[in-house]
Amino acid sequence: MDYSDLFTKNLPAQVESPPGQAEDTKYVFSVTYTDRDTMPVQGFVDALADIMPREGVELAKYPPPQGHVGLREYIASALHDNRGMDVPVDNIFLSSGAGGAVGTVLDALIDEGDTVLVEQFCYSGTLGMLLGKRANVIHLPTDEDGMDTSALEQTIKDLESKGVKPKLIYTISVYQNPMGVTLSADRRKHMVEISQRFGIPILENESYADFRIDGDPLPQAMYGLDDEDGVMHVSAYTKLLGCGLRLGFGVVPEPVKDVVGRLRFGTSPSHLTSMAIYEYLRQHGDEYIDAVARSLGAKRDAMLAALGERFPPSCEWSNPHGGMMLWGKLPEGADTWNTLEKAVQAGVKYNPGAVYRANRSPNNYMRLTYSYHDTNEIAEGIGILADVFEREGLFDNA
Ligand SMILES: Cc1ncc(COP(=O)(O)O)c(C=O)c1O
Repeated sequence: MDYSDLFTKNLPAQVESPPGQAEDTKYVFSVTYTDRDTMPVQGFVDALADIMPREGVELAKYPPPQGHVGLREYIASALHDNRGMDVPVDNIFLSSGAGGAVGTVLDALIDEGDTVLVEQFCYSGTLGMLLGKRANVIHLPTDEDGMDTSALEQTIKDLESKGVKPKLIYTISVYQNPMGVTLSADRRKHMVEISQRFGIPILENESYADFRIDGDPLPQAMYGLDDEDGVMHVSAYTKLLGCGLRLGFGVVPEPVKDVVGRLRFGTSPSHLTSMAIYEYLRQHGDEYIDAVARSLGAKRDAMLAALGERFPPSCEWSNPHGGMMLWGKLPEGADTWNTLEKAVQAGVKYNPGAVYRANRSPNNYMRLTYSYHDTNEIAEGIGILADVFEREGLFDNA
């Protein structure tokens, strides 16, 4: 069969990725895998053994369109207690990871050429979706308090003066991927006020909200600060309980609910997975979240210690209060994009800074994740990476 004339004209655009990124390596510092040292494998088995006699026969039917009701009730209660959100269960939909929920919202809103405002560096998965849709992605300055909302306001005004109205503000507002920063309470208020004044909705991605290691408590989610249906919220249990479980969720205000329902027809995540997660979290959620935070704290510190020992002082690293990643700045001129292949040959993978930029142009930034490996492997892998960078001259450019 010749498919060349058969494919839809709406296939996503190809997005460039660095050489070596698709290879398997022994040390994976490039993906926010679940912490395998705390992953509750036996806990799932037990949770399923508990829930199957009660609910197993439900699997004979198709699940409710928005997903398992018990799990959505659990999510509503967790969002209320932890994120200051009052959400009717019917405004929550379960999805195939946070990525599935983001994809649904983007499908509902974004056409080719639409302008979307994102942080200075933006999670490559969502960026890939936006570039795939041929959106016009504008990065905004971002510092330790998150996206600079004064710059956001000014950019919107500048665009409006040219007749362009952005479609969406997209922010990873908690332990931002990749920079690790959290949008401050003041900036959250400002962002919501901007959204309301200019009529531009916000999509807040709080995928890392369950991963606070230390530092101040998180500021309230913007969904709870807004009273004009302008904020949509996504998060997930993938990173907490297992990326392979593919369970995330979206929360949308009334005017968006029906469109999301139409777009999602037939795409609910596995009901069996939802049942296991519901039962596990109901029984063990709080204590498990604490255990993951302790483990991630030790891993973060092990990676920072290894970087301090093996990388020169001309390299700067974030010291995040939560999440699963470090953000690094190498000396000026260090090309992290083209060096990845060499690191992969040595058995270590990281993410070059350019995968978080719409224009892909190489830069001297990089992201390292610390969630998956144990502290010894972290030290080994960082040592190998330092040797590669030294050999390739990345430390010489200071
Ligand atoms: C901010 C953010 N959103 C979404 C995703 C996709 O995650 P999921 O596996 O929940 O689809 C990730 C994964 O790294 C992420 O960091």
